[in-house]
Amino acid sequence: MGVFRRVLVVWIVVSVFLHDSSNVEGRTHFHKKHNDPPAYSPDPSPPPVNPSPVPSDPSPNPDDPGNSNSEPCVFDVTSFGAVGDGTTDDTAAFMEAWKAACAVESGIVLVPADHVFMITSTIFSGPCKPGLVFQVDGVLMPPNGPDCWPKSDSKKQWLVFYRLDQMTFTGSGTIEGNGGDWWELPCKPHRGPNGSTLPGPCDSPALIRFFMSYNLVVSSLRIQNSPQFHMKFDGCEGVRIEKLSISSPKLSPNTDGIHIENTKSVGIYNSEIANGDDCISIGRGCSDVNIEGVTCGLGHGISIGSLGVQNSQACVSNITVRDAFIKDSDNGVRIKTWQGGTGSVSGISFENIQMENVRNCMIIDQYYCLSKACRNQTSAVYLTDVTYRNIKGTYDVRSPPIHFACSDTVACTNITMSEVELLPAEGELVDDPFCWNAYGTQETLTIPPITCLQDGMPEKLAESSSFGC
Ligand SMILES: *[C@@H]1O[C@H](CO)[C@@H](O)[C@H](O)[C@H]1NC(C)=O
Ligand SMILES: *[C@@H]1O[C@H](CO)[C@@H](O)[C@H](O)[C@H]1NC(C)=O
Ligand SMILES: *[C@@H]1O[C@H](CO)[C@@H](O)[C@H](O)[C@H]1NC(C)=O
Ligand SMILES: *[C@@H]1O[C@H](CO)[C@@H](O)[C@H](O)[C@H]1NC(C)=O
Repeated sequence: MGVFRRVLVVWIVVSVFLHDSSNVEGRTHFHKKHNDPPAYSPDPSPPPVNPSPVPSDPSPNPDDPGNSNSEPCVFDVTSFGAVGDGTTDDTAAFMEAWKAACAVESGIVLVPADHVFMITSTIFSGPCKPGLVFQVDGVLMPPNGPDCWPKSDSKKQWLVFYRLDQMTFTGSGTIEGNGGDWWELPCKPHRGPNGSTLPGPCDSPALIRFFMSYNLVVSSLRIQNSPQFHMKFDGCEGVRIEKLSISSPKLSPNTDGIHIENTKSVGIYNSEIANGDDCISIGRGCSDVNIEGVTCGLGHGISIGSLGVQNSQACVSNITVRDAFIKDSDNGVRIKTWQGGTGSVSGISFENIQMENVRNCMIIDQYYCLSKACRNQTSAVYLTDVTYRNIKGTYDVRSPPIHFACSDTVACTNITMSEVELLPAEGELVDDPFCWNAYGTQETLTIPPITCLQDGMPEKLAESSSFGC
């Protein structure tokens, strides 16, 4: 268990380090979004001068926005020279197919079934005509591990979709991350000689990244074995994710399933995620996020945070997680913030969540720290209006199932608990829920009973305006 914990801590170190660098990136590049929905041109733009063959008989596209003025045009990557034998570098063909599809309304980049395509790190950028679909029916994968990664390519990301509006990423195929060799790099936790962790930059690519894009649909795909995060959204607005299947082994470091930050209006529905890190992680600047019908296994559960690192401000609001099933995970639903941050987390609702053999089923950790060297500070991200309703199932007795560690100086307020019933998966009952500076109400008695939640409001609560959200 000691070793396991240490492994975990080091993974989290790496994970947060990477989160943070991406935060900085997100902050630097995130500018004001444009609000206007793109107008569909009433008469279709003239067909673009198209240097490439356009196969006939476009298959009907279920995600077509239904503009009857535009016929979808299919751009099969094999018509642009992609070989799809699993070893040939097909990047150039994909770029050509992308350019052609980008130029027409409702264009479809088709990655056909029964082929395995290998492409290197690529940015598919817009703006494109609306209704663009990237449809993967075959297998699409990056070069196999760090040794095959071209030296000149970014090691931080593989597929990037940038500056798009009304785009769909879908298909019946698989995005295979070939992450195995990345997870075994000696700079990864305990993968060095004799179980050590060697220092040094340890960049590993996020598999799929959407950046500064709007009105996205991602559906149906199988996404697996990412070197690092499977999917990442930053600076986006309007994201609908459904019927994804994401998987990596339990011991694959930092393989978050879906990570969002600085992203608003997100729906994640009916998806299965099993991996080695957070199932879904929600970073700073997210609001209006609705997660429904998600199954999480193996990893670290659904997390809001970590927030407020290095005295930063974080504003997260209106997050709902409903009808989820979380099993064999290190956490269930978690909110984690660092000492010294500002901002707030509010309007959070966890509802109808089934737990099976989960450690820390419900956890608030406002002392999140990776080094043991974090000092207590007077400012904190303020947590308020957090509801836990109908949370049932079993916990792993190695950790208490309920743990609310709020900041010393900024209490958590208005925590509502209703129909919380958690029993040990096996072994002795651990009936000591922990709360520190946590205020709220129980609408029904919880199992295990919780006596540490304080009634009403704290006498002193910092001015809410000082949180600045
Ligand atoms: C690995 O650790 C063991 C026990 O600490 C030690 O005896 C051995 O020499 C180490 N091997 C290497 C290659 O460092
Ligand atoms: C959060 O939800 C409330 C109530 O529905 C709404 O008034 C508020 O504008 C929302 N805030 C954000 C940032 O979406
Ligand atoms: C910080 O505050 C918490 C709660 O009062 C306390 O348990 C913890 O020991 C403190 N940590 C340090 C490093 O002072
Ligand atoms: C407490 O939180 C609930 C649920 O988020 C909200 O409806 C209610 O208005 C809050 N109460 C107060 C006093 O803020």
